[in-house]
This record gives sequence, structure tokens and C-alpha cells, in this order.
Amino acid sequence: MKASWLIALLAMLVAGLGWGPAFADPFPTIPKAKGERCVEDPQYMRRNHMDVLRHQRDDTMRLGIRTTKHSLKECVSCHAVDGKDGKPVTVKSRQHFCASCHEFAAVDIDCFACHASTPEAKR
Ligand code: HEC
Ligand code: HEC
Ligand code: HEC
Repeated sequence: MKASWLIALLAMLVAGLGWGPAFADPFPTIPKAKGERCVEDPQYMRRNHMDVLRHQRDDTMRLGIRTTKHSLKECVSCHAVDGKDGKPVTVKSRQHFCASCHEFAAVDIDCFACHASTPEAKR
């Protein structure tokens, strides 16, 4: 009796939060970018974005080279997704560009412990 209640409650939560379709869908739904084109070919980025980011980080941190081309800030800005409140969602939402795929692929990244996952507020 108790267990079936729990299952029903969980099912409602899951459906309510919109996780339902994720179980049925064989592919993640990747939100569309705001800008016209990616910093590299999207096909290439799909496979190699982690290397591109690591490379950019190493250039900045070790060599002090600072460019915007592969900057994480730029990714997060152009790939921002607005939530129901009209504000960009953070990586905690599975609607977030980076989370959309990672959640599906069970990839866990620590980048957003330090870096903002939303476009930075303009001052
Ligand atoms: C100025 C806008 C812009 C910037 C900056 C940008 N992208 Fe993109 N990105 C796009 C567009 C446009 C596409 C093609 C798919 C689409 O229309 O959403 C894309 C595609 C991708 C894809 C493939 C998604 C898929 O549908 O398979 C990945 C992965 C990706 N970008 C990662 C990144 C990363 C990582 C960065 C930062 C280093 C970045 N992008 C910066 C616009 C951008
Ligand atoms: C098209 C799907 C997709 C999108 C969109 C995507 N990723 Fe990934 N990402 C993956 C997959 C799949 C892996 C694991 C690849 C592997 O293990 O070889 C990965 C791995 C990574 C890694 C390396 C993790 C590790 O443990 O080595 C980083 C860093 C990363 N992604 C950053 C990002 C960031 C930042 C964004 C958003 C700007 C993003 N990704 C968007 C699919 C995606
Ligand atoms: C412990 C905190 C921390 C974590 C975790 C972290 N970073 Fe950083 N990262 C920094 C700091 C600090 C800088 C230097 C800031 C600056 O000078 O802009 C930096 C710089 C960068 C840069 C170069 C600046 C830019 O945006 O062009 C990139 C790219 C980057 N990090 C990507 C990543 C990625 C990808 C991950 C996850 C795999 C990650 N970082 C995880 C702290 C962190």
C-alpha cells in the first residue's frame, strides 16, 4: 500500500517536471542556439567541444592568452535557453544546453561550480 503510493507520487512528480518524455525519447532534445552559427562546425563541436574548452582553458590559465573564440562564457551566452520566467535557466535545469546532452549521456562536469552557466548580467 505504502509503496504503491510512493510510486504514484513519483510518477506524478516525474510527469510534472517534464522528465516523462526523456525516458521514452531515444535522443536528447538539444535546445537551439540564439546566435547564427557556432564557433566551429556543429558536427565537430558535438564530438570535440571538451577538447576545445580544455585547450582554451590551458591557454588562458597557463599561457595567459585570453581570447573569446572558445570562451566558456560565449558558449553559455549563445546557447542560453530561457525558462518560463523569461530568464536564462541555469545548468541545474535539464533544459540548459549543456545539461540537455550531459544528463542524457550521464556526463558529469564540475565546470559550473566556478563558471556561470547563464549569460552574465550586463552592467
Ligand atoms: C554565436 C553563437 C554560438 C556560440 C558562441 C557557440 N555556439 Fe555552439 N552552436 C551554435 C549554433 C547556431 C549551433 C547549431 C545548432 C543550433 O542551431 O542550435 C551550435 C551547435 C553546437 C553543438 C552541437 C549541438 C547539436 O545540436 O548537436 C555543440 C556541442 C556546441 N554548439 C557547443 C558549443 C560550445 C562548447 C561553445 C563554446 C566554446 C559554443 N558552442 C559556442 C551557436 C554558438
Ligand atoms: C550534443 C550533446 C552535448 C552538448 C550539447 C554538450 N555536451 Fe559536453 N559532452 C557530451 C558528451 C557525450 C560527453 C562525453 C564524451 C566522452 O566521454 O567522450 C561530453 C563531455 C564534456 C566534457 C568532458 C567531461 C569529462 O569528464 O571529461 C566537458 C568539459 C563538456 N562536455 C562541456 C560541455 C559544456 C560546457 C557544454 C555546454 C556549453 C556541453 N558540454 C554541451 C555531449 C554534449
Ligand atoms: C575551481 C574552479 C574552476 C573549475 C572547477 C573550472 N574552472 Fe575554468 N577557470 C577558472 C578560473 C579561476 C579561470 C580563470 C578566469 C579567467 O581568467 O577568466 C578559468 C578559466 C577558464 C577558461 C578560459 C577563460 C575563458 O572562458 O575563455 C575556460 C575555457 C575554462 N576555464 C573552462 C573550464 C571548463 C570546461 C571546466 C570544466 C571541465 C572548468 N573551466 C572548470 C576556474 C575553474
